[in-house]
Amino acid sequence: MPKALSAWPARIDLLQSLSGLLLVLFIWAHMFFESSILLGEDAMYQVSRMFEGEPLFGKPYPLLVSAVGITVFVLVAVHAILALRKFPSSSRQYRQLHRHMGAIRHPDTALWYAQVITGFCLFFLVPTHLYTVITQPENIGPYASSDRVWSERFWIVYALLLLTVHVHAAIGVYRLAMKWYAPSGVNATRNRARLKLAMWCILGFFIVLGTASLLTYMRIGYQHADRAGERYVPAALHTEDS
Ligand code: HEM
Repeated sequence: MPKALSAWPARIDLLQSLSGLLLVLFIWAHMFFESSILLGEDAMYQVSRMFEGEPLFGKPYPLLVSAVGITVFVLVAVHAILALRKFPSSSRQYRQLHRHMGAIRHPDTALWYAQVITGFCLFFLVPTHLYTVITQPENIGPYASSDRVWSERFWIVYALLLLTVHVHAAIGVYRLAMKWYAPSGVNATRNRARLKLAMWCILGFFIVLGTASLLTYMRIGYQHADRAGERYVPAALHTEDS
């Protein structure tokens, strides 16, 4: 009797796709909240207090932010462990891959390889950011974040993280669509080209949004450098106090 095929490889593949999709949705939402700094310091202040539960509980609980940070970290770890099995594992495999890529010049294989490289960089960049988020959740706000970005030189981590995470996420979504929706039929070529165009547009959008926000945090941090460590107090509270 033929041996039954195991369903596990398919389940693991599905889990990898699902964890990747959740992470992409998280990072896209994160970019909108974090870029509230473009609307002004008060807007970013309100968003930070909202994530600390202040509108719900009447006072801020930064531990809520740590809890989200830990959840995201676990999701990243699961996704990374599942992805590791797809990495080439020896110099011989890398040599074969390079030879193969040079010979066939297949754009989607190049995209897959870009995902392997950015995924590897994210192993180092994501924990650096999540460590500060988890251990210092109270230090998120217009001045606290800008001081970190400028005075603590975190702009270097963020510039690298911005580029790698969005290249990884945009290619990831494109590859998810190709895998689970797989354009076929008469319009397959046109639909594939559209998916790829959407991938480049999404990537361009988040790089522009993230760069604009990062430059704004850098500017505020630069202007606030000699008062680094001081917390932002919204204009409305200033007036109430005086
Ligand atoms: C609960 C988890 C997270 C929270 C609360 C959070 C919060 C923040 C905040 C407040 C900033 C502004 C700078 C600062 O305060 O240091 C920031 C920047 C950034 N974060 Fe996160 N983050 C989280 C997870 C992640 C993850 C998992 C990634 C990527 C995989 C990520 C990617 C980025 C990038 C690329 C920037 C710079 C954005 C820019 O250039 O404008 N974050 N994050």
